[in-house]
Amino acid sequence: MKKVLTLGSFLVLCAALISSSALAGDGKALFTKKFCVNCHGADGHSKTPQYPHLAGQNKEYLVNQFNAIIFGKRELGSSALMKNHPKLKDFSPAEIEDIATFLSGLKRVATPGQVDPADVAKGEAMFKNMGCPECHGAGGKGMPLGSDPKFAAYPRLNGQHGDYLFWQMKRILEGKRTNNHALTMRDKFKAEKLTDKELRSLASYLSTIE
Ligand code: HEC
Ligand code: HEC
Repeated sequence: MKKVLTLGSFLVLCAALISSSALAGDGKALFTKKFCVNCHGADGHSKTPQYPHLAGQNKEYLVNQFNAIIFGKRELGSSALMKNHPKLKDFSPAEIEDIATFLSGLKRVATPGQVDPADVAKGEAMFKNMGCPECHGAGGKGMPLGSDPKFAAYPRLNGQHGDYLFWQMKRILEGKRTNNHALTMRDKFKAEKLTDKELRSLASYLSTIE
């Protein structure tokens, strides 16, 4: 009996090893199997405005933020929904790399919803005048290839849900979101007192850029 059980467990172990190695390097399959699709959408575009689109996002930024949320360094907003999801467990660093590689290679499609054109124009002027492109690239599309490698850890912003952008800016500028490189941005704007209306304009503009 003991022998049979041992053989049985050996076979189970083999099956587990085969199925996990079949997924190794396959970020797309992992993104589905690890339940990310439930909230972030099969193509990395979420339907809920408080949940970020991940498609086309910079790889290093994705890995950093994933770890910050799962290990409790970024606990604001809706982060708890992700952190406490009962099935989001047991990730190897290699699996996260694979998922991030898959996501960063997807095309970002803008989903602006209802925006006021006057607000968009105001946001565009602010984005340029305040020097946001220095770190987020023209139109928030990320820094061009060949830029300083540090920018790989900075997010692209274009086409993101406006509501999500608004809340993240607010938390970073108020010094509440402090994980990873958030203080780099906050320190730059310490003296500015941006109103919610101004932040909404910035968010509206960015959400429309394809
Ligand atoms: C239960 C819903 C849910 C699931 C499942 C989920 N997430 Fe999230 N995720 C969120 C929410 C909500 C946020 C935004 C948190 C906030 O408000 O700051 C987020 C944020 C992120 C971010 C940060 C993006 C940014 O622009 O800063 C990354 C990266 C991420 N999720 C990756 C993943 C991956 C990879 C998986 C699967 C392993 C996953 N998520 C599963 C809800 C979820
Ligand atoms: C000096 C560099 C720098 C400048 C200038 C800068 N940012 Fe950032 N920004 C960052 C970094 C770095 C992060 C990511 C922080 C982290 O690691 O969590 C960030 C994050 C963000 C996020 C959160 C994105 C997400 O997916 O969660 C938004 C929105 C944002 N910036 C908007 C802006 C806007 C609008 C401006 C101009 C008013 C601006 N930033 C100027 C460096 C900068």
